[in-house]
Amino acid sequence: MAEGRENWGTKLGLILAMAGNAIGLGNFWRFPYQAAKNGGGAFMIPYFAALIILGIPIMYVEWMQGRYGGKYGHGTVGCMVYLQSKERTSHTTAAILGSLVGMLVFSVVSLVNAYYTQIIGWTLGYSYLSLTGGYMDKAKSTGEIFVNYIQTPGLSITFWVIALFLLGLALTRGVQKGIEAWAKVMMPSLYVLGFILIIRALTLGTPVNPDWSPLKGLDYLWSPHWNELSWQSALAAAGQIFFTLSLGMGIIQNYASYLKPDDDIVLSATATVFLNEFAEVILGGSIAIPIAYTFLGTDGIKSGVGLSFIALPNVFRMMPAGQIFGAFWFLILFFAGFTSAIAMYNYLIALLEEDLNIPRRVGSWLIFALYIIIGLPVALEPVLTKTAELVFLTELDNWVGSYFLVVVGLLEVFVVGWLFGEKKSLEEVNRGSYWKISSAFFNIMIKWVTPLAIAILLVFSTRSYIKDGYFRWVPSFVEKMPNLVPWVQGARLLLFAILIIGFIEAYTTIQKK
Ligand code: PHE
Ligand code: NA
Repeated sequence: MAEGRENWGTKLGLILAMAGNAIGLGNFWRFPYQAAKNGGGAFMIPYFAALIILGIPIMYVEWMQGRYGGKYGHGTVGCMVYLQSKERTSHTTAAILGSLVGMLVFSVVSLVNAYYTQIIGWTLGYSYLSLTGGYMDKAKSTGEIFVNYIQTPGLSITFWVIALFLLGLALTRGVQKGIEAWAKVMMPSLYVLGFILIIRALTLGTPVNPDWSPLKGLDYLWSPHWNELSWQSALAAAGQIFFTLSLGMGIIQNYASYLKPDDDIVLSATATVFLNEFAEVILGGSIAIPIAYTFLGTDGIKSGVGLSFIALPNVFRMMPAGQIFGAFWFLILFFAGFTSAIAMYNYLIALLEEDLNIPRRVGSWLIFALYIIIGLPVALEPVLTKTAELVFLTELDNWVGSYFLVVVGLLEVFVVGWLFGEKKSLEEVNRGSYWKISSAFFNIMIKWVTPLAIAILLVFSTRSYIKDGYFRWVPSFVEKMPNLVPWVQGARLLLFAILIIGFIEAYTTIQKK
């Protein structure tokens, strides 16, 4: 049993920390452009289907898995999967399954955060630029200003290091005084700022063009365009559900491992989903899209990742008190990103602490150093040409930020549904829970519907990856640009190396127990 393992201080603190984990740049940055790119209303239909079929059941599975692992002193997923698989398989099979999941999760937490923290740095830098009027000068386009910001080291590196340092600082203080304390400040602030911006967004009127209004922006998102429904939009929607709820990343289990053995699961996990979805479809959907639509029309919302850093600053320039509203927007992004990055960061600390006996304080600064080293080439933009960097990161993100999550999700649900089994799973998930999961839910959803849906998702994703040439050593998307090929292959070699380290780490830890 786990001696001296930290627990969450209060119920509210736990829920806010979990909400902080889930609510991230995914809600405010990824969701609006995924929705806009995939036909608005046509996206929302598979989105809600995926929420019910995948999101909620996997969330319960991950909370249960995490609390179970915590009872045995484990905050990492390899060990959890091992413990649960062992119920019905041999030690060796369970160890291999655990190590596979542990390896995939290790690559996700170490790599996703490496680029995620860059963007968090930008959000902090842009909060500062908003307040100081840094992008208000209409002589330069906001696009130029953004490129200039990420290409000149000064400001961008400063804010990136500040953000990383604050993360390191928060994490040396542990679960209650670190993660929980910061979430208790940042999450409520995020909601308050979000409400202020929604009111601002919806009362904009039609300042630029009588055809453009906030309500038309909302309409775009909410009117179901059945005819635009495609496998592509369904895939994107399911991928978004995984990403936004932090599923398949190991970090929900990690947070759940700090629950006490009889802390509520079902209601708390549902609350986390609800808080995230509120922040996504209400705050994420009714701020950026209506604002951009009002000033820039459909062009504004389709500008992809540029929506936050290029289109919206352009709008804040035109709006009265735009500096303040701009600062609110970027602070929302910062709070959202920060409280998610904490979760990935803490996973690595838990791994060092529990598997290698490295104390939290030391681990925290070790990881800080690691992120600085991994991130420096990206932060020092001039070293790399812009496209090369983008191709490198996109390649990593295609695997660790989307494909692997689904693979991990499938393995987890399979382990709980078929190896850990009905009796144990229900006993674990329902102990201390205010709402209970029924045997029918387990037998229908967890055993069949959810894993089959993930499997279908995986088949279709794999098909589209094959079609796009992602499984080839010289992928088709860079065939015509030979100078970029080494960047894609470099990203893959890095990924392989991390996967191997992750496997060995998980395997040896499991053997030791
Ligand atoms: N759920 C997070 C989000 O919506 C995903 C994430 C977690 C990304 C942790 C990075 C780090 O942004
Ligand atoms: Na999210």
